[in-house]
Amino acid sequence: METTTTVRAAALELEAVSRHHGRRGGLEAVALDAVSCAVPVGSFTAVVGPSGSGKSTFLQCAAGLDRPTSGTVRIAGTDLGRLSEAALTRLRRDRIGFVFQSHALNLVPSLSIVENVVLPLVLAGADPRDARVLDQGRRLLDRVGLAGRGDDRPGTLSGGQQQRVAVARALVNRPDVLFADEPTASLDPESAALVLGLLRDAVRLDGRTVVMVTHDPAAASWADTVLTMDGGRLR
Ligand SMILES: Nc1ncnc2c1ncn2[C@@H]1O[C@H](COP(=O)(O)OP(=O)(O)OP(=O)(O)O)[C@@H](O)[C@H]1O
Ligand SMILES: [Mg+2]
Repeated sequence: METTTTVRAAALELEAVSRHHGRRGGLEAVALDAVSCAVPVGSFTAVVGPSGSGKSTFLQCAAGLDRPTSGTVRIAGTDLGRLSEAALTRLRRDRIGFVFQSHALNLVPSLSIVENVVLPLVLAGADPRDARVLDQGRRLLDRVGLAGRGDDRPGTLSGGQQQRVAVARALVNRPDVLFADEPTASLDPESAALVLGLLRDAVRLDGRTVVMVTHDPAAASWADTVLTMDGGRLR
């Protein structure tokens, strides 16, 4: 008898990933305790759990912003632990998108809005004066409902609008994984729904993979999969 198995490639894999923090007096804080999971390509995953349960540590290790104490993290098959700092920086720039909690952290105030969107491309070597590069940024701004605002400064936007620009910027390099840490924490419910809708569209329409940390059950309900953390472990 013939059997068919559908194997969906993992965009992100963690194998027994732990992150300990040294403390004065020699006691170690275990922020992440042997966490294993696989996030399929084209899925929207929410990571929830109480304060201090390790959600941000999970995201930082998964995104190559922090190095685990032990265990393996793979992004689209690449083992991050085997990369030099320079190679890890390139991988973050070229294959990962980030949206942070605070819109104040997300955008560079001295650049125009469209320059902020294309910043990852410019850091990878694209010419910021190239009309094709800027057009790409303007198309994404159109997509997030901010057509016509590209030449303004981020400071002229509301918090929710700035988070939408941050999503556009996180998508500009067509990342293997878009990571978001509490992207809607400082937003009113309407602005939060717009941002969450953009993340969901990136998954449904473009096949991107999104991993989002959130405190908010309403935000988590937009995801296909909810991972719950407790005491540094996945429940
Ligand atoms: N640099 C550090 N040094 C020592 N302990 C740390 C450090 N960073 C995190 N921790 C500890 O690791 C645990 C997990 O922290 P983490 O920030 O990942 O939690 P979280 O789930 O994101 O919490 P929150 O919902 O409050 O943002 C906490 O007990 C925290 O105190
Ligand atoms: Mg956190």
